[in-house]
Amino acid sequence: MALEAEAKAISAKFDYTDEDVNKGVQEFLRQMSEGLEKDGTSLSQIPTYVTAVPNGTEKGLYMAVDLGGTNFRVCSINLNGDSTFHLTYTKVAIPKELMVAKTAEELFAFLAQQIELFLRTHHEEQFEKHLRRRMTISSPVGFVDEDVFRLGFTFSFPIQQLGINKGTLIRWTKGFDIPDAIGKDVCALLQKEIDKLHLPVKVAALVNDTVGTLMARSYTSPGKSGAILGAIFGTGTNGAYIEKLSNIKKPMQGEYDQSTGDMVVNTEWGSFDNQLNVLPNTPWDVELDKESINPGIQMYEKRVSGMFLGELLRLVVVELLKKPHVAFFKDESSDSNDWKSTTNISPTSSLYSQWGLDTAIMSVAAADNTPELVTLRQELETTLHVYAPSLEDAQAFKAIAGAIGRRAARLAAVAIAAIVLQTGSLTNPETADEPVDIGVDGSLVEYYPYFRDMIYEALRVIEGVGEEGAKRIRIGIAKDGSGVGAALIALVAAGMEKAEPKEYFVDYIGQLRRNAKDHALGSLEEEADDVAARD
Ligand code: BGC
Repeated sequence: MALEAEAKAISAKFDYTDEDVNKGVQEFLRQMSEGLEKDGTSLSQIPTYVTAVPNGTEKGLYMAVDLGGTNFRVCSINLNGDSTFHLTYTKVAIPKELMVAKTAEELFAFLAQQIELFLRTHHEEQFEKHLRRRMTISSPVGFVDEDVFRLGFTFSFPIQQLGINKGTLIRWTKGFDIPDAIGKDVCALLQKEIDKLHLPVKVAALVNDTVGTLMARSYTSPGKSGAILGAIFGTGTNGAYIEKLSNIKKPMQGEYDQSTGDMVVNTEWGSFDNQLNVLPNTPWDVELDKESINPGIQMYEKRVSGMFLGELLRLVVVELLKKPHVAFFKDESSDSNDWKSTTNISPTSSLYSQWGLDTAIMSVAAADNTPELVTLRQELETTLHVYAPSLEDAQAFKAIAGAIGRRAARLAAVAIAAIVLQTGSLTNPETADEPVDIGVDGSLVEYYPYFRDMIYEALRVIEGVGEEGAKRIRIGIAKDGSGVGAALIALVAAGMEKAEPKEYFVDYIGQLRRNAKDHALGSLEEEADDVAARD
């Protein structure tokens, strides 16, 4: 059958063989070393200066905001002083026009407004108290310092980190494009807008979402050794891991504690192999990149993350639709016109516009294993306005979507395996009986069926990992890790403001391990209405 054969041939172009996976790992390791040696390489390997953690007894209310993809989240974390915390959050979709605003001010003003709204909704009493004080107390800023909320800013774009609450934007990713912000300190940009609204909030820490995920996972995952990697497979993709200080050869500007011998490094692996030494490159990858706002950049991310997989699939679908000899989403494709109606696509279907195919439908396709593919066919109708698709149409769609998703998962395994090998976690005799723990978050790992299974399948064939190694690697979800992680770092930063810095440069990794042992999981309570608003 023409359609089936065509779908098979296209799917084969997304094959990423065991040999490719192994080559990918070797190149990833090479590019990691290169990034540790000098700036300006495709894997940025950004030192984060994260070297301290709270000791679990702190009390207080901290805030965290998260800008990094489709939504902006504001949360407050109430630390109870016994390693448990209560988290409240709201999220709002970032208006598309702000992602490409003319000035940074427009975006950051919007963020400050959301913070104000959150404070008014969830912390009205404290907020009013602050306002009253502001009217009555004449300090230079109008606030009693103790009453100022410390805020951890999760900013999930490549940043040149200059200190715990200072970092300049290297480049935008994931569809954001505000050239005015490049090279500017994003903490200062946010603080300026917060101050304009006279909010009692101080931006205390700047954190990448992967670093937050690593912190949160290390804090909560049991075992002698904490997590070695925090990774995001969501709208974008990236990983932060624990590197030996002695391996970081390039100069670092900020001050840091050397006693742990380790530092968290933000790889910015979305830009792995921008030069395409080993990444697969189908004609649709080429087209997607050409039409993107950052051609030649984030080449790994464009093959792996949620923002791009749907678009890749859309480009394939559109090409198939143009082939006169292939009966795809046309009535003739059906063996028997089983829905007794004419297959057609609405001329206004989002299939015809860039980004018009949401990656979420790929999850539906992967999850629907029924003989008639009823759910997928309904989804094609409701989201893409493809009316009365035949079983054969849906089968072709599912096969191609599956091939794109499988390639993404196998590429994800490349990054994970390279980091496991780089850290030597599988060969360290001290932790030989321990799992190698990895915290992950993001819509792909959370919602795409079998994503983790496909990662494991690839891990098993990787030299240096193999069946046994793959068994030891524990990939666990670090839900809301970036918010909790940012609040934890804000807490430490707030402590650093008051104390002699040395006191707070504790053994970061060791402390995480002790905390994990001393306390079971930190309790993550969420308010019911906030859960309802979840991704
Ligand atoms: C950004 C990273 C971020 C990742 C996941 C990428 O596009 O460059 O900084 O960690 O997305 O959100």
